[in-house]
Amino acid sequence: MKRLNLAILISGRGSNMEALLHAAEDPDYPARPILVASNRPDAKGLDTASSAGIATAAIDHKAFGKDREAFERALDAELEKAGTEIIALAGFMRVLTPWFVGKWEGRMINIHPSLLPKYRGLHTHQRAIEAGDAEGGCSVHWVSAGVDEGRVIAQARVPILPGDTEDTLAARVLVEEHKLYPEALAMACQQILNSGRKVEFPES
Ligand code: GRF
Repeated sequence: MKRLNLAILISGRGSNMEALLHAAEDPDYPARPILVASNRPDAKGLDTASSAGIATAAIDHKAFGKDREAFERALDAELEKAGTEIIALAGFMRVLTPWFVGKWEGRMINIHPSLLPKYRGLHTHQRAIEAGDAEGGCSVHWVSAGVDEGRVIAQARVPILPGDTEDTLAARVLVEEHKLYPEALAMACQQILNSGRKVEFPES
């Protein structure tokens, strides 16, 4: 069975990355992790990935100043070298340029801690509590040009309870993220594999 070469991009803790690595231990899972890359060399998730025997790359965005595309070209070189076929963003805290999104569109997904289209961007849980919402949750979506705007693949919901704070709600949602992301990544891989489209890299 064909498994797509998976690169996971992180910026910090990497608990969603860990959930994906765990799911991919199953030889029937449709993605095989080949690289974990971070824009922050001190990201805790890099150590976790190394301990799991996965190749890692740290590309410090600060070295590129304000030139986002130069950073992305360095990142892209690592992704290409590793033979990446699908990218999962997992707490990757860089806004991507149209060049990078255009290159990987249809092969890049993200997890966002809200029930999209509600609460794109940051502080999603606080905003849901302040709005008096009865439910919060998380979404996995294809990455397109607008931030957190791509087509949703799957969502999970949790209740917002009286007395919830940003932290208590985030913790309840995170439990669901760790279940949802492996499922949604498998669905994304199946969509790519079933499309019959040959996965190949366009000229950059
Ligand atoms: C998660 O809540 C994810 O939804 C958001 O950033 C957080 C990353 O956490 N995009 P982790 O690094 O996966 O633990």
